Amino acid sequence: MQQQRENWGSRLGFIMAAAGSAVGLGNIWRFPYTAGENGGGAFILIYLGFVFVIGLSVMIAEFSVGRSTNLAAVGAFKKYNSNWTFVGVLGVLSSFFIMGFYPVVGGWALAYIVKSFTGLMSSVEAIPGVFDAFIGNPVEPLIWMLVFLALNIAIVVKGISGGIEKAGKVLMPLLFALLVLLSIRSVSLPGAGAGLDFLLKPDFSKVNGETFLAALGQAFFSLSLGMGAMVTYGSYLSREENLPQNAFIVTTLDTLVALLAGVAIFPALFAFGLEPAAGPGLVFVVVPTIFAEMGGLGTIFSALFFIALAVAALTSSVSLLETVTAYFIDQRGMSRKKAVYLMGAAMVVTNILASLSLGVMSGVTIFGAGFFDFFDILTDKIFLAIGGMLVSLFAGWVMKKDVLEKELTNGGETKFGLFNIWFVLVKYVNPIAIFFVAIAGIISITQTSLMIFGLVLIAALAIFSKKLA
Ligand code: TRP
Repeated sequence: MQQQRENWGSRLGFIMAAAGSAVGLGNIWRFPYTAGENGGGAFILIYLGFVFVIGLSVMIAEFSVGRSTNLAAVGAFKKYNSNWTFVGVLGVLSSFFIMGFYPVVGGWALAYIVKSFTGLMSSVEAIPGVFDAFIGNPVEPLIWMLVFLALNIAIVVKGISGGIEKAGKVLMPLLFALLVLLSIRSVSLPGAGAGLDFLLKPDFSKVNGETFLAALGQAFFSLSLGMGAMVTYGSYLSREENLPQNAFIVTTLDTLVALLAGVAIFPALFAFGLEPAAGPGLVFVVVPTIFAEMGGLGTIFSALFFIALAVAALTSSVSLLETVTAYFIDQRGMSRKKAVYLMGAAMVVTNILASLSLGVMSGVTIFGAGFFDFFDILTDKIFLAIGGMLVSLFAGWVMKKDVLEKELTNGGETKFGLFNIWFVLVKYVNPIAIFFVAIAGIISITQTSLMIFGLVLIAALAIFSKKLA
């Protein structure tokens, strides 16, 4: 059933693609507002701890599951133990759900590139109203969402080394350069110091249970963990690659970009006396406001910012589409082309629903939430954490310790001095830590029916996946 399996063309290509998956809306759109709402510096410290202990160790686990089997999410788990197939199915489903709203926001970013030049910046007072009117419009955001999805389809249909890897190699350095430029501009504004203080001086009085929840959720989302994306990317990796080292590089790049996004936004925000805790609208409202206040080159900077945001979103959504596509290629024997077009078409439907749910369809709810929130809450609050916990449990309890050690040292060719610590993390520490955070996350869902639906869905998958996959 399997044809010649694709591979990454080079190490750099893989790193750019995996970092491309990790670096996304999570870093530039979500991280700043989550940090802003959770007290800035103190949140960032906790986040860093989660990223480099739990996140990094789960990423190493995902890479080893993928590469040791050379199969994407579903097939990889199935190959070890078919009782665990559902973890892969859950991942594919979560990727599909994240892809139910991610292209909507990606489309907003594309639209704001153009809007930067067409009058958005001319009146500072009008900027919040422009955003609200835009996302609720029944036509305009749909067009941009379709453009964004079309770009995804065009890249993924070209395959691993010819599409995803090429895009990452061009787009990631571009993104990095843009963010550095924006950060320099932000930090050099008069009054920027207050913003740096906010980011760097931890205020622990704002820390509570919610902070930890937000930090772990953000870590998983940002590192693309918990749903098989990194299993899938790892499955195309050559036997010579050093997995822990690659995971460390990807994690570090992702974290750098998040911090850089913070440095690009907060100093400028404080320089203009704006609110840090502005919620999801932060980058679409506060950022244009900052640039409008700047006058002169503000238009250009605003356009650059939204180009960076769109680029980051694109290399991430590509990994989500790939995770779903790879299932149909590996498990269903479909051609890449057919799988991509089929799933692309399905995503057009889910994204139209998600986009319209912020406007004309706001009255239509499914399990107590509009479609956009349905996809977001289900993945962010339930699937991601549970998926991450299951992957960790899988590596710690199902895979054999010596198999893992071989995989992570390439059969003794490379060194992984922290192997034993990693194994303890993966086997005991992560599952327990993630479990508590997952419970807290699930309890925090206000739509009870949605919470029950999510849990029932996972249970159903656990029971029926064996037959399905
Ligand atoms: N990490 C991406 C971001 O920060 C989003 C993403 C891509 C993702 N693939 C994923 C999140 C897989 C969870 C799982 O925007």
